[in-house]
Amino acid sequence: MAGHPDSSCAAKPVATRIVGAAEGIPAAAALLAAGEVVALPTETVYGLGAAALDPLACAKIFEAKGRPLTDPLIVHIPTREWLDRLAEVSETAARLADHFWPGPLTLVLPRRSLVPDIVTAGQETVAVRMSAHPVFQAILEAYGKPVAAPSANRFGRISPTSAEDVIEELGGRIPLVLDGGPCAHGVESTIVLVRGGELHILRNGPVTAGELAGFGTVRGRVAGISAPGGLASHYAPRTPLVIAGSCVPAEAGLLAWQSAGGGFARVERLSETQDLREAAANLYGAMRRLDAAGLKLIIAEPVPETGLGAAIMERLRKAAAR
Ligand code: TXA
Ligand code: MG
Repeated sequence: MAGHPDSSCAAKPVATRIVGAAEGIPAAAALLAAGEVVALPTETVYGLGAAALDPLACAKIFEAKGRPLTDPLIVHIPTREWLDRLAEVSETAARLADHFWPGPLTLVLPRRSLVPDIVTAGQETVAVRMSAHPVFQAILEAYGKPVAAPSANRFGRISPTSAEDVIEELGGRIPLVLDGGPCAHGVESTIVLVRGGELHILRNGPVTAGELAGFGTVRGRVAGISAPGGLASHYAPRTPLVIAGSCVPAEAGLLAWQSAGGGFARVERLSETQDLREAAANLYGAMRRLDAAGLKLIIAEPVPETGLGAAIMERLRKAAAR
């Protein structure tokens, strides 16, 4: 189709500007209204936003990320009323939204016809969330409509948790990065498919299974639902990464949970006090620094798989699968 984006083609190079909130909020709202993409801070990771109700604008997200059109986008809404316009909202879903929004929870619900096919990748469901980041909220308020935003990384790579990370991923491919400082959570939102009273966790994240338990029966994935970051290999550094308790090969770096890392060429500690929240917030930055250190191998110490540890281990396994 003429003019149709092809994710295998490199986008035309553009000069990418990084700006702060004062200049960036009106500039981002204007770019969104003009059908352009813009990188935005959220409380989880940085997102690459575009007008969710404009299919051509959404196509630019896929083009900039090199993302296959089969991978659906999360829609970020300015106000709770938008949820009912985009999706069929069951009582369970409404209770989840009321309790966890704004915040790091994405709900997958039956879509309404207002949502473009490119957003849902043709699926009958749509993923919706409301971000708690004040800069993203201000942009949504100024723009006034939903914004589709996946993580602002090249497809399959480590999600960015700072404006500089976004430049490393998408510099030269997008016009603007809004610098809102480092992301508080550092891992992507929890994704939950709501079906009747059942909650299927499609991606572990800052909202834990334990916190969801009061809202329905918590279950794992559903056969036939294309799971988020569904590919086994995702969130991947270029340097091979293995998960291992103890081992010190030469020219290896350690992504450390509890050991001091003596003998390793480079050590990145996730949290000095073994705090899982701090570890999640540091995870991607630490992986990115190890990846840039010219190592032969990255060894990641496993973290306890409780609470946020489930989200961290899910990402380490994907980073290790290559
Ligand atoms: O924290 C986050 O969720 C970040 C920030 C920017 O909001 N966004 C993010 O988006 O992580 P993305 O596209 O990188 O990951 C969202 C995942 C994708 O892997 C996609 O497959 C899945 O959500 N997804 C989107 N719509 C879906 C749907 N209708 N059903 C199942 N999975 C869906
Ligand atoms: Mg992503």
